[in-house]
Amino acid sequence: MKTAVYPGSFDPITLGHLNIIERSAAVFDKLYVCVMINSDKKPMFTREERMDMIRDAVEAAGLKNVEVETAGGLLVEYAKSKNANAIVRGLRAVSDFDWEFQMALANKCIAPDIETVFLASSEKFTYLSSTIVKEMARYGADLQGFVPANVIDKIMQKV
Ligand code: PNS
Repeated sequence: MKTAVYPGSFDPITLGHLNIIERSAAVFDKLYVCVMINSDKKPMFTREERMDMIRDAVEAAGLKNVEVETAGGLLVEYAKSKNANAIVRGLRAVSDFDWEFQMALANKCIAPDIETVFLASSEKFTYLSSTIVKEMARYGADLQGFVPANVIDKIMQKV
């Protein structure tokens, strides 16, 4: 059984994230989406709110082999606790690469048995990020086509 972890801040989940979740769920037997702490970011949503939004989106997408959790420690420790073979990360532009490569190497040093697998983001979502979505919301832009339907009201309530 091949198990993967898809970690992130997901503040909030976007359609780009959901696309990576759907494709990973098709490749792995079991996928854990884990809401984690990125110490460089100040989140808009609590971890519970972010998990709820992801769970609703995963359910609406009919994905049966995906579980949504949160963890506050090291990613590789969480991955080990799930007996995961792989960590999944989406790559959008070249600008993502430097940091993602550093993280993958650091994680490999700590846990050599766990591979990081990069999925190229769908070209539709190359420009999309949670940060852009929050900025759009602050200026009243229509978020349809950027985040799952269940997330739109949640963002509008925050801004
Ligand atoms: O969606 P993000 O903000 O790019 O996700 C980054 C995240 C949360 C996956 C990363 O910051 C992370 O792994 N945090 C947990 C602590 C950890 O293990 N850091 C990496 C050590 S090199």
